[in-house]
Amino acid sequence: MEIQRIGVIGVGLMGAGVAEVCARAGYDTLVREINDELLAKGLERIEASMQSAVQRGKLTAVDQEAARSRVRGTTRLEDFADRDLVIEAAIEDLHLKKELFKQLDQICPPHAILTSNTSSIPIIQLAAATQRPGRVLGMHFFNPVPTMQLIELVRTLTTSDEALEAVRAVGERLGKRMIVSKDRAGFIVNYLLAPYLLDAIHMLEQGFASKEDIDVGMMLGTSYPMGPLTLSDFSGLDTVLTLLMCCSRRSKSHGSLLPRSCARWWRLAGSGARAGVASTTTRLGRNHRTNGRKQKIEEKEEKTSSSKGESRWYNQKSWS
Ligand SMILES: NC(=O)c1ccc[n+]([C@@H]2O[C@H](COP(=O)([O-])OP(=O)(O)OC[C@H]3O[C@@H](n4cnc5c(N)ncnc54)[C@H](O)[C@@H]3O)[C@@H](O)[C@H]2O)c1
Repeated sequence: MEIQRIGVIGVGLMGAGVAEVCARAGYDTLVREINDELLAKGLERIEASMQSAVQRGKLTAVDQEAARSRVRGTTRLEDFADRDLVIEAAIEDLHLKKELFKQLDQICPPHAILTSNTSSIPIIQLAAATQRPGRVLGMHFFNPVPTMQLIELVRTLTTSDEALEAVRAVGERLGKRMIVSKDRAGFIVNYLLAPYLLDAIHMLEQGFASKEDIDVGMMLGTSYPMGPLTLSDFSGLDTVLTLLMCCSRRSKSHGSLLPRSCARWWRLAGSGARAGVASTTTRLGRNHRTNGRKQKIEEKEEKTSSSKGESRWYNQKSWS
């Protein structure tokens, strides 16, 4: 089957990048946000990224105009009724994603393929929320999407060959290199990345070395383009936290393995909010989350910080 119309759920950091590459590759692209304000912000993000690509000589003004004309926004999920492929890039919250997949299953045409950009949630749980488990798979992009070459395709026990190959064809048209992973926590890349980031954060917390020395050590010592702490900031500590929790669940010791700062957030988030902990904000400048839980957690955190005289959750300066 040939995919022509793509729907992207969420126009945050990842969704905006995904929508941009889809539009630039010629796909009719519809993005969905939860309100007009966030939608406008997301569309501005796409515009700014394309503008920067033009300035860097990566995109012509004519192609930018053509790509711009292929992106539309909506706040209504019902508008996905004509999409051939959906790429879900909403916040990392299992319950929210399951609900989205359930609704998309009812709204999208039977041939549509539903994918998720989740970093850590088992795809089978999203597939199980639908009546089309054969047409559900993971499509894990990397940040920043326009420049990172990789997509991990995550295949569950139920994903059909046809769906996998149709999505692979989309990835090829986006100019990406694809790898296929089984559906287990962290897939391939994050499974290997999680312990590395975890150790780097522990090293910093234990005063073993400074942020700069840890980052420079890994950059110059192993030719990584960026150090583990810069990479954590770049991805957003909320995403990193979810990843750590998800991967450490493998050893059934999620609370104890987490760095002090992450564990504190874990406690504050409370068991009921754990699956949705990524909906809280980080202190690293990506302060655009709107979920009501965010406010509650921040209020609780404020109280805890002032009563114990502790420093607040990491900000960029606190890495040093
Ligand atoms: N940040 C990374 O480096 C990275 C890399 C790979 C994958 N991911 C995954 O991509 C997903 C998105 O991460 P992000 O960093 O872009 O988060 P983000 O917070 O920047 O963006 C998420 C967006 O989803 C929107 N949203 C929430 N509920 C929605 C709904 N019901 N419908 C439509 N939009 C909704 C939010 O308003 C927000 O704008 C997560 O699953 C994350 O694990 C993130």
